[in-house]
Amino acid sequence: MPNKKPSELTSSDEIALYIHWPFCISRCPYCDFNAHVRPNIEQPDWGKALLSELEYWAKNTPKRKIKSIFFGGGTPSLMEPSIAADIKDKASKLWTLENETEITFEANPTSVEIKNFREFRSAGLNRVSIGLQALDDNALKFLGRKHSRKVGILAIELANKIFPRYSFDLIYGRPQQTTTDWKSELH
Ligand SMILES: C[S@@+](CC[C@H](N)C(=O)[O-])C[C@H]1O[C@@H](n2cnc3c(N)ncnc32)[C@H](O)[C@@H]1O
Repeated sequence: MPNKKPSELTSSDEIALYIHWPFCISRCPYCDFNAHVRPNIEQPDWGKALLSELEYWAKNTPKRKIKSIFFGGGTPSLMEPSIAADIKDKASKLWTLENETEITFEANPTSVEIKNFREFRSAGLNRVSIGLQALDDNALKFLGRKHSRKVGILAIELANKIFPRYSFDLIYGRPQQTTTDWKSELH
């Protein structure tokens, strides 16, 4: 609800949470996001830091309902699923979460990451957003992606089995990409 003072907020006012996991296995040449490649990530420390960030924001946004939670990146599918579970549990204590609260994470469709889909689902996440980008192996190579078309399709099939909702991103207008190429890729 716009233009309300914090003191005027009630439990019927809704907010959304965005959690950023700023790490990737490699940098994609087209990416403008806050993403970093690090050999070692102290996941437990990052988990604790994110929980204390939630506490900070809860003090500033009391009595709110959480409409959606989005884990973006970077590559949140590289996060330990237990961190996602802890964040969800903490959010449900600090604010009000409902059964229909949409909880999404972004995933790269590599074989290593799709193996964790079930664990993310068990952690209470109910939607995955897959960074497919292309359905053509040469285009994937050009975009610096680490997955193949085959594993990309496998990721979609698995998401369809495990999550009530999912989406996938595709990039078009790539150099030398014709309308015919794009149509055949979509087909
Ligand atoms: C920032 S990525 C993070 C998720 C995951 N690590 C991945 O690479 O797919 C999320 C989505 O942003 C889109 N994206 C990346 N760079 C972009 C840019 N420069 N402009 C618009 N969208 C971009 C991609 O399609 C990607 O699926």
